Amino acid sequence: MTIIVTGGAGFIGSNFIFYMFKAHPDYRIVCLDKLTYAGNLSTLSTVMGKPNFRFVKADICDREAIFKLFEEEKPEIVVNFAAESHVDRSIEDPGIFLQTNILGTAALMDACRKYGIKRFHQVSTDEVYGDLPLDRPDLFFTERTPIHTSSPYSSSKASADLLVLAYNRTYGLSVSISRCSNNYGPYHFPEKLIPLMIANALNNKPLPVYGRGENVRDWLYVEDHCKAIDLIIHNGRVGEVYNVGGHNEMKNIDIVKLICKELGKPESLITYVADRKGHDMRYAIDPTKIHEELGWLPETKFEDGIKKTIKWYLENREWWETIISGEYKKYYEKMYGDRK
Ligand code: NAD
Ligand code: DAU
Repeated sequence: MTIIVTGGAGFIGSNFIFYMFKAHPDYRIVCLDKLTYAGNLSTLSTVMGKPNFRFVKADICDREAIFKLFEEEKPEIVVNFAAESHVDRSIEDPGIFLQTNILGTAALMDACRKYGIKRFHQVSTDEVYGDLPLDRPDLFFTERTPIHTSSPYSSSKASADLLVLAYNRTYGLSVSISRCSNNYGPYHFPEKLIPLMIANALNNKPLPVYGRGENVRDWLYVEDHCKAIDLIIHNGRVGEVYNVGGHNEMKNIDIVKLICKELGKPESLITYVADRKGHDMRYAIDPTKIHEELGWLPETKFEDGIKKTIKWYLENREWWETIISGEYKKYYEKMYGDRK
């Protein structure tokens, strides 16, 4: 079995590669990644020397490179993680999000059509459903919830989802989609809430909470997401969407306070800053379908997952300190410099 994993040098893609080598040691995994600011080859150092692993630096929008790779590898399965993934960056500059997330997905599926595959799996997000109000805790996103996006990022992901379903109906391409809630865990790029707060707290820097910190996210340990994708690509129904989430809703402010407590840092580091434009209020996934059809359930409780994650950032300082010492400094200054 040969699987092409795009975006495998990023947060979830790399964790997926590690998960798959544990679950299916005999599979051949080809990681295709453009190595944008969010991609980090050092993350893959433990698998680089494996005879059944190959890394290819390429852009999913580069049709020539993609078609050549498919010609060489004849993959049975393609799992598309490659994306511009940060909402705040999409608000600053949407163009690259449309390019990679929409046109890149189409290029990959055209290669799948030409060379034939058993499954093209699109890693999507719960953000395609928009948000839920805080005063209706009885409401959840199901696979039938209408698409209703808020940011250029979520709109680009929703567009890709529509294309994926259209390629299934029009060309009969064997596709599936997973829409997952917020992930956390090792190798999470420190521009996202949890790793940013851990890194800043460890450096005794202000912890910038948007608005009042009342927004709710539904957090899932990254390995549980990887397991869900493994189940879907092998046993999930073609043409179907599966929501993935662990009923673990938390307010941002509570997460930040928890990180302070775990690290023994004062809550006085918390600084309320200007809100994100169009900020989604609450995400909450109903995972009944994937549970009933594929038997998936999250295994890591948030109390354990957050401890494991913090421990990982303490033990792997070099990984994130290298990141925050480079280009990231300019990004940080631009986004947070005079944000009030
Ligand atoms: P990430 O930003 O950490 O990693 C993205 C990876 O894609 C990087 O390695 C980057 O180099 C690569 N990439 C970007 N543009 C590319 C291109 N044009 N060609 C090839 N490679 C390219 O993202 P992540 O958080 O790991 O998210 C992975 C996927 O999961 C994304 O599709 C995202 O929409 C989705 N998702 C993320 C979350 C989350 O909480 N992080 C939740 C649900 C869904
Ligand atoms: O729900 C799935 C989505 O989760 C994925 O599709 C995205 O790729 C992923 O980045 C994530 O999006 P969010 O916007 O929810 O994640 P982020 O970590 O950027 O922000 C989480 C919450 O924390 C959000 O309400 C904004 C807030 N926040 C974020 C940052 C970076 C802050 O208050 N301060 C910050 O500095």
